[in-house]
Amino acid sequence: MGDIVRLQKYIAMSGAASRRGAEQLIEEGRVKVNGELIREQGVKVEIGCDTVELDGVVLKIKDKKIYIALNKPVGYVTTVKDQFDRPTVMDLVKREIHTRVFPVGRLDYETEGLLLMTNDGDWANKVTHPKFESSKKYYAVLKGVLTINSLNKIRRGIYLDGRKTAPAECEILEIENNMTLVEITIHEGRNRQVRRMFEAVGNPVKALKRESIGIVELGNLPEGRWRYLTSSEISYFDKKK
Ligand code: URA
Repeated sequence: MGDIVRLQKYIAMSGAASRRGAEQLIEEGRVKVNGELIREQGVKVEIGCDTVELDGVVLKIKDKKIYIALNKPVGYVTTVKDQFDRPTVMDLVKREIHTRVFPVGRLDYETEGLLLMTNDGDWANKVTHPKFESSKKYYAVLKGVLTINSLNKIRRGIYLDGRKTAPAECEILEIENNMTLVEITIHEGRNRQVRRMFEAVGNPVKALKRESIGIVELGNLPEGRWRYLTSSEISYFDKKK
């Protein structure tokens, strides 16, 4: 069921007139709801259900575009619905976001960190399309000590499913207790790419967190919480060729 609003608000939301202007249009007998001429103010209509016409032209209300950054915790699936009924990222936003948004790309169930969500399909395409090469930065804890030789292989590219990964930036941040903490930035989004790359050099990933996508950073957003993107974060991806 869509939101129920007063007719003058509906007309204003469609962009056809201001709310005042809409009242005038109704008074002038130029507005119909479901084919019926309406002259009184205050009639209620349901968005997405009732048909409102002005001078015989149907008025449409565009979905407000929403762009958010979520700090996904481990243990949530990046789908709208899970076949095994596990918690989904939708559970983390649905209390406050009443428009249908969907995840942009995905993070594994056991991966945490930055996940973008939107209801703007064109924008989502730009963020995820390989030709736009949005950079994605991760922190990964690896089993064992990553050798310089393996580090260079990761940087140059690794064959996964017979296709080499694009060059990646990778730095070792810390080695402790037979584990290596690395920062890695990739420019593709192949399935379980980071995990498979390190597995291929013999250092399986024990923990993985996405820190940024393009200029959008996780920053100090608490786990399980979300924020709206700023207009420059949104347009960063629009400007990509
Ligand atoms: N690479 C992975 O292996 N997993 C993710 O969730 C994201 C990138």
